[in-house]
Amino acid sequence: MKDIIIKGGEVVTPFTRSKADILISKGIIQAIGRNLDEKGKKVINAAGKLVLPGTIDAHTHMALPMKGTTSSDSFWTGTRAAACGGVTTIIDFTEMADGKVLLKAFRERKKMAQGQCAIDWALHSCLRGWVKGSDAAIDRLIKEGVTSFKMFTVYGERGLMSGDGEIFEALQATARRGAMVTVHSENAGLVDAYTKRKLAIKDTSPLALAESRPNVCEGEAVQRMISLAEAAGGRLYIVHMSTKEALRALKEGQRRGVNVVGETCPQYLLLDRDSLEGRKGHRFTCVPPLRDPIDKLVLWQGVEEGDIAVIGTDHCPFFGKQKDKHAKNFTKIPLGLPGVETLMPLTYTYGVRRGHISVNQMVQVLSANPAMVFGMYPQKGILQPGSDADIVIFDPEKKVTLRAKKLNMNTDYSPYEGLKLVGYPEMTFLRGKLIVNKGKYVGDKGDGKYIKREVAG
Ligand code: URP
Ligand code: ZN
Ligand code: ZN
Repeated sequence: MKDIIIKGGEVVTPFTRSKADILISKGIIQAIGRNLDEKGKKVINAAGKLVLPGTIDAHTHMALPMKGTTSSDSFWTGTRAAACGGVTTIIDFTEMADGKVLLKAFRERKKMAQGQCAIDWALHSCLRGWVKGSDAAIDRLIKEGVTSFKMFTVYGERGLMSGDGEIFEALQATARRGAMVTVHSENAGLVDAYTKRKLAIKDTSPLALAESRPNVCEGEAVQRMISLAEAAGGRLYIVHMSTKEALRALKEGQRRGVNVVGETCPQYLLLDRDSLEGRKGHRFTCVPPLRDPIDKLVLWQGVEEGDIAVIGTDHCPFFGKQKDKHAKNFTKIPLGLPGVETLMPLTYTYGVRRGHISVNQMVQVLSANPAMVFGMYPQKGILQPGSDADIVIFDPEKKVTLRAKKLNMNTDYSPYEGLKLVGYPEMTFLRGKLIVNKGKYVGDKGDGKYIKREVAG
């Protein structure tokens, strides 16, 4: 591959932005500076454009089995779409397993993704419970580059749930090794009780999904998980935070020194439960459910003030007809929304242009922070010499109206249909290879490689 110079763009890091050229050789950033020597290099003109590190989406579910169906993006279609949206690494999940079969679950999922991905990829291990052998399995997985273990406080009926004592054990065991636990946090007992009430009055509407999991369910569970991490001296990551109550618990935990990181998603920053009441409300069903406008505002504040360190998508798409089949019954509807492709452009228009965050903060929450939290920094997440040349050339003035039919995710609708954006990725480089040009995917299946992640020092 010929060496490349990306010329004259505004290079953005977590704390700086400056006009500079970037020299790429052998997939690595070799130099960043003014007027780099162009001789013998392929020159890409980035004048007037932002030059950003590729986004790392730390929360995707490609081909996830769910309620009798499967999320509609494969590793191939989902990562190709991701590339078009400026994402250069995803972290997906293994199937749920306990300690006895954790390694097997990892190997199966790795086999499924290998050779399929358009961008780099890694895996969180989904861990249920705590059994003899869990410790050893964690050791083996860390050697394979898996340093985060996802647990659930709900979904007993789907065989995903772990008890507090089990999560506490996992927090201690992972922390001893510099790894971490990530948690889907809702209070199972409360969700059950509220759900029974809805079913008793035969209300299975999409809005009833939200009403059966009110804010307190998440707020209580996040607070409890933080207390467990505090007791365990653990490293904790709270996925898809959707409520002001969860944010309050996060801030309190962080202020008293608990090692906890919070993630939210575009759907909780941009949408609210009004969407669940529309004619196509069932197509907006996800868990945690969409909340009230006040939650959106408070979550934006959490991002602005740095309490929420990561925006990931929880990308879990379905075709309209997969959702429509159970439109009137929230207990059967497959839950989740498409989002990996729209993460960066939505964050730019609604975060940066609206004045919530600076473009530097955008780079923090989409690239540098997920790379640091999940053991990929500084290989990923930053534009600096020595790092992988995962680079997005972003046109900050490009006007785009979001239309599902123009997006590349394997679904036929978008929860953001019709939103007007200003700013969109134009080119994506994966380790120096141009894989998206003028918004069109030009890479090859299998360009993406598995990223072995590091434990914290
Ligand atoms: O509704 C959602 N979020 N589906 C994906 C699975 C999960 O709980 O994250
Ligand atoms: Zn979840
Ligand atoms: Zn998820």
